[in-house]
Amino acid sequence: MLNALTPQAPDKILALMAAYREDPRDTKIDLGVGVYKDASGLTPVMRAVKAAERQLVETQDTKVYTGLAGDPAFAEALSTLVLGDARPADRLACVATPGGTGAIRQGLELMRKAAPGATLWLSAPTWPNHPAIAKHLGIEIAEYRYFDAETGGVDIEGMHADLSRAKAGDVVMLHGCCHNPTGANLTLDQWGQVADLCVARGLVPFVDIAYQGFGDGLDADAAGMRALIAKVPEALIAASCSKNFGIYRERTGLLMAIAPSAAELKVTQGAMASLNRLNFSFPPDHGARVVSMILTDDALRADWAAELEEVRTGMLGLRESLAAALRERTGSDRFGFLAAHRGMFSLLGATPEQVEAMRRDHGVYMVGDSRMNIAGLNAATVPLLADAIVAAGV
Ligand SMILES: Cc1ncc(COP(=O)(O)O)c(C=O)c1O
Repeated sequence: MLNALTPQAPDKILALMAAYREDPRDTKIDLGVGVYKDASGLTPVMRAVKAAERQLVETQDTKVYTGLAGDPAFAEALSTLVLGDARPADRLACVATPGGTGAIRQGLELMRKAAPGATLWLSAPTWPNHPAIAKHLGIEIAEYRYFDAETGGVDIEGMHADLSRAKAGDVVMLHGCCHNPTGANLTLDQWGQVADLCVARGLVPFVDIAYQGFGDGLDADAAGMRALIAKVPEALIAASCSKNFGIYRERTGLLMAIAPSAAELKVTQGAMASLNRLNFSFPPDHGARVVSMILTDDALRADWAAELEEVRTGMLGLRESLAAALRERTGSDRFGFLAAHRGMFSLLGATPEQVEAMRRDHGVYMVGDSRMNIAGLNAATVPLLADAIVAAGV
């Protein structure tokens, strides 16, 4: 049986990480893998997470199974953080999942079960796991234009034109904030336009929100999505706690489904719990419990929000200094989009040859499509990166 398997294509980011590790230059810069790093290159455990974990060790008296949907307190706390005032309590079904990826996977399985012939529309480009999971599940995919390489912003006309070809019942994947890999995001007004298009054409939005709090702040990052869900009859939302709580390996996520009316809620919730049962039974609980402890305790929550804000403003500062360093070196503002982008990533717009030249000549490691993890920079490496970008003729 196993001899029928064919090798998997090597993971490009893992290969990049290995090449970085082997590079002896002490000026090398790792902008590859998508995790937050502080100025010293570490991905720390957040203070509130440590405190909640300590409390949990002291107080938890059982590790018996949770429900198939996970702990209801987690679903309530996280869905409130994500959906805010737009949370439709009587139409909201939730299941905890292994990370945001698990929420996307479960959401796509739900889509396939409910609408077997529907197409999934993905932004061009998008996080590669979106098409990979959809293809694995046999879901038809189509792309809508999203990134305007000329301006570094969103091609809203192209997006509108492409989504106008979608058929009623198709699903549109949207990044809630901090678009990965481009860093370019819809404005509040553009979210409204996308919502109107979904309503007019009967499209179902599926929002992937993995970086809430990394862009403009916890509420600002969710504002567009909240405006959208206030308008559309139904929606799916996949939330990840990996980045904003820094609990990558705890695998903490939540799939939310907004049903068209309270009447469909029970069936929707049942279908989601059953999909959990079929894939992994009970979702992981440790990270979920830590998150709900933080969100429901005033002191822990305030400390977490303050630390997240330091992370966010640190990345914004790096964006601004990189844009300024490039302005200084090129005498133009054509890299100004780097300061306008939000989140951990920006698509630089370099060719694969330029990406290779930056790696060879300057030890700058970024993904081949020129996605840069801004959190991989610090005050000392910003000028080095700016030099490399200019030298490569980007
Ligand atoms: C766009 C996007 N969605 C979802 C995720 C899911 O992350 P996780 O499964 O680690 O929670 C990521 C992580 O890189 C991401 O970039």
